[in-house]
Amino acid sequence: MKPGMSLMKHYLQFKDLRAEEYTYLLERTAVIKKRFKNYEKYQPLADRTLAMIFEKASTRTRVSFEAGMYQMGGSVVHLTTGDSQLGRAEPIEDSARVISRMVDLVMIRTFEQSKLEAFAAHSRVPVINGLTNEYHPCQILADIFTFIEHRGSIAGKTVAWVGDGNNMANTWLQAAEIMGFTVHVSTPSGYEIDHAVAGVRDNGCYKLFADPREACRNADLVTTDVWTSMGYEAENEKRKQAFADWCVDADMMAVAQPDALFMHCLPAHRGEEVTAEVIDGPQSVVWDEAENRMHVQKALMEYLLLGRIG
Ligand code: CP
Ligand code: NVA
Repeated sequence: MKPGMSLMKHYLQFKDLRAEEYTYLLERTAVIKKRFKNYEKYQPLADRTLAMIFEKASTRTRVSFEAGMYQMGGSVVHLTTGDSQLGRAEPIEDSARVISRMVDLVMIRTFEQSKLEAFAAHSRVPVINGLTNEYHPCQILADIFTFIEHRGSIAGKTVAWVGDGNNMANTWLQAAEIMGFTVHVSTPSGYEIDHAVAGVRDNGCYKLFADPREACRNADLVTTDVWTSMGYEAENEKRKQAFADWCVDADMMAVAQPDALFMHCLPAHRGEEVTAEVIDGPQSVVWDEAENRMHVQKALMEYLLLGRIG
């Protein structure tokens, strides 16, 4: 941490930053992305190290953080449960004390949010949530940046969430409350969002729909996710039955706004939560979403380590 910089910040859930910090970060992302596209070298994190701890699988999160950190001049240490003492029951608090003495920033993908919070409470350096059972803030940050790139401000818009009341759904709700849009949520019975876990102050930022088609009506963005998140594999067969009607298809897209976008954080299962026609169709922006993970996270890492630039 730079001398004189204000209190260290962690990014453990979307609501850890304020609306005006998101305004800054989203503008900063556009600058950082443009530089990258123009092959302009920008290495403000030279000599800085990011530790990435993965207790669950990843493609996008790993590649986007690792490539992003190298592009900014820094380096990366990659740890998993299996190849570190984390898998041999070293307390998370001890791991945090040790790892954070050697690196400048930590990204963690794990199961319970409480584990991430325990790490952060004992860390000397900022900690970023790379996905927990409860939240996936870096993904929603990328999704909002992607929406803005394609359609302008998301304030006042409607996002349809079709599927599980999971980490992505909780995070969409937090983002809606901060950024002033509405989420139309449709989940199968038994898989609803837990209001307390989502952690939004009131229910003004979302509306519940029993019928997924009704949730999509007039939406500016339709989005979904896997029926079975990591850690819930034992429920897979039961979920396949419960979620059968929660497949985003052309009929759902047809009742949304004519220029509605389709998003999915990926990995996707064509024929389950979305048809191939939709995810591979003209309204889908899933590849931009994936790429934008890297750009928003570069802006986030710069912000957590160096504060505001310019
Ligand atoms: N969307 C996302 O977080 O992808 P990975 O699981 O591949 O990191
Ligand atoms: N909800 C999914 C997101 C994967 C990026 C999961 O937690 O597995």
